[in-house]
Amino acid sequence: MNPITLHGSSVEQKRQEIKEYFLNTYDLFEKMFELFKNDTTFYEQSESTRHPMIFYFGHTATFFVNKLVNMKIISERINPAFESIFAVGVDEMTWDDVDSQHYKWPSVEETKAYRHDVKELVLTLIETLPLTLPIRWESEMWVILMGIEHEKIHLETSSVLHRQMPLERIENISDFKQCTDYDEAPKNELVLIPSCEVSLGKKHGSDYYGWDNEYGSYSQSVQAFETSKYLVSNAEYMEFVKSGGYENQEFWSEEGREFLRISKAKHPVFWSVENGHYFYRILTSKIQMPMNFPVEVCQLEADAFCAYKSQKDSLEYILPSEAEYEALCQHVGLGEEQHTVDANVNFKYASSTPVDTFNFNGIYDVVGNVWQHSRSHMRPFEGFEVHPAYDDFTVPTFDEKHALILGSSWASTGNLITKHSRYAFRKHFYQHAGFRYVVSQKKEEEMVDIYETDVLVSQYCEFQYGEEHFNVKNFAIECAQVARSLAVNTNKALDLGCATGRATYELAKEFDHVDGIDFSARFVQVGVKLKEEGVIVFTSQEEGTLVTHKKVTMEALGYESIKHKTAFWQGDACNLKPNFTGYDLIMATNLIDRLYQPRLFLDTVDERLNDDGILMITSPYTWQESSTDKEFWLGGYKDENGKEVRTIDTLKEILGVKFELIHTQDLAFVIKETARKFQHTLSHVSVWKKRS
Ligand SMILES: [Fe+2]
Repeated sequence: MNPITLHGSSVEQKRQEIKEYFLNTYDLFEKMFELFKNDTTFYEQSESTRHPMIFYFGHTATFFVNKLVNMKIISERINPAFESIFAVGVDEMTWDDVDSQHYKWPSVEETKAYRHDVKELVLTLIETLPLTLPIRWESEMWVILMGIEHEKIHLETSSVLHRQMPLERIENISDFKQCTDYDEAPKNELVLIPSCEVSLGKKHGSDYYGWDNEYGSYSQSVQAFETSKYLVSNAEYMEFVKSGGYENQEFWSEEGREFLRISKAKHPVFWSVENGHYFYRILTSKIQMPMNFPVEVCQLEADAFCAYKSQKDSLEYILPSEAEYEALCQHVGLGEEQHTVDANVNFKYASSTPVDTFNFNGIYDVVGNVWQHSRSHMRPFEGFEVHPAYDDFTVPTFDEKHALILGSSWASTGNLITKHSRYAFRKHFYQHAGFRYVVSQKKEEEMVDIYETDVLVSQYCEFQYGEEHFNVKNFAIECAQVARSLAVNTNKALDLGCATGRATYELAKEFDHVDGIDFSARFVQVGVKLKEEGVIVFTSQEEGTLVTHKKVTMEALGYESIKHKTAFWQGDACNLKPNFTGYDLIMATNLIDRLYQPRLFLDTVDERLNDDGILMITSPYTWQESSTDKEFWLGGYKDENGKEVRTIDTLKEILGVKFELIHTQDLAFVIKETARKFQHTLSHVSVWKKRS
């Protein structure tokens, strides 16, 4: 389905369009799961690093509810339990939620009923949310579009997972038509693309919904280069496989060799060999190798093929860059409305088509059929900013490990087929993705300004890992010390609202295991990076645009020997997953006055603590409506009788039944904004012991 425009003259007509767009996506997603022969398949994983399929089935519905709650568009959840376990997919994050196998997954029937309830909610909102045209990034309706586009991404990635499911679990349904034009492959050749200037990035206010990474600007001169006329076919790639390409280490990068070692791959994942004959897996069956279909490989395999072909032809082949691909699109005349051209997209077929089917002025499959790997990493354009409803959509991929995939595939719809969309995956990751090669000047990418200036994250890095100011001690260290001195048992601790992770490490000096959880993946990433790479770098703002660059190492912090006791997670304190339980200490630092419904956290926090468990709350009680609707504030207002309500009194009222208040104190902290501007805050600490 083509994307809908954000513009229009009739609000009612736009509501109707959004409704159709939503229903089409929601229903097609469910249709995809009708390919499973029976319900037990929902509890199978198609790959060991992925959740069972039931997760994805519930996840796209939960996404709507979670984003609507977070943006305070709705205040009631539909099913809090489902909305915690279906919350975050591993696709979005670099760390895997390996505990997922221990969840008590709901039944397929329950999940279907839940999906139905969410559908009703979204339909009501489409009818009733305030709407003016054009729909803007700040509009409430944007969050609905975000949910629809998110489901379109999962529609595509689920179709990849389905393709990896054993065939005995999958059945054919007539809604998904697979192309059967199997034949010999055409011989590939090179086509010249003249030098040109390219501009990437789109403006706010443009015609279609976009993810955060699409906005901004970037321009570059592209030197003339040559590109392959066709995507690399199974036949062309077969030469590489048969010549021992997977056994010859010299063609593979270091990461590629690691991929070979772990995967033990001898050929692409959708291929199989029986008695010397090659077969190919399409969505619902296994067929003789279709030589004229594009090969589907991960980026590391595509890169190794280029190295092999370079040696064979004594010419240097590489994968195209993002800018070269844009030059190619310009050359064949693809413009803003490229999603309207005739190509193998939008489930025209539920499979690839021959590489010589869709001709774009002499070059084939410029868009559609399968995605095309690139040599470009995901980087932000000038002017990049995150969307408040989904601040971790792209930021975790600015790590120089995620490579862009270009074009789109047969399973791409909506935003995925628009001109400006940008998607990136780790290089060992499979999609319906193949490649075309280019012969170019191989200029290193010119976009070198790696995203390191997320102001809030940098400020927090400075706060947790930087210097002390005005003789106020490091707040994360002080908090951990207070907690450690009052904890009765020291097996397991939870640092809730861990931000960039300093206190998580400090607690690990005493506790056997510490989970650090924060709502924002951008923050948690810092703790993860420190653990995995041993170093973090950040900027500290001095004056105007002047900054100092700072570097902190694991070694200097002295956490090398305790880091194995820490684990970091993205999570919502108001709706934590059930497996976060059994703690001797829960430390909620500067958290409760930032929660959208703090009571949801406080009412049930005792269930996550062991007997004699300690709950430590620190907060300056700075209630603000941007974080918490006033009806959910715990203090800082007058009640209906004109009596002043203080947060500590409400805490006593809520926690008093299940906890004994054993300690209170003030604890100051200083956050540096610039060299001459600091926030000096007095946090209130209250420590509560669970009654046995
Ligand atoms: Fe997702």
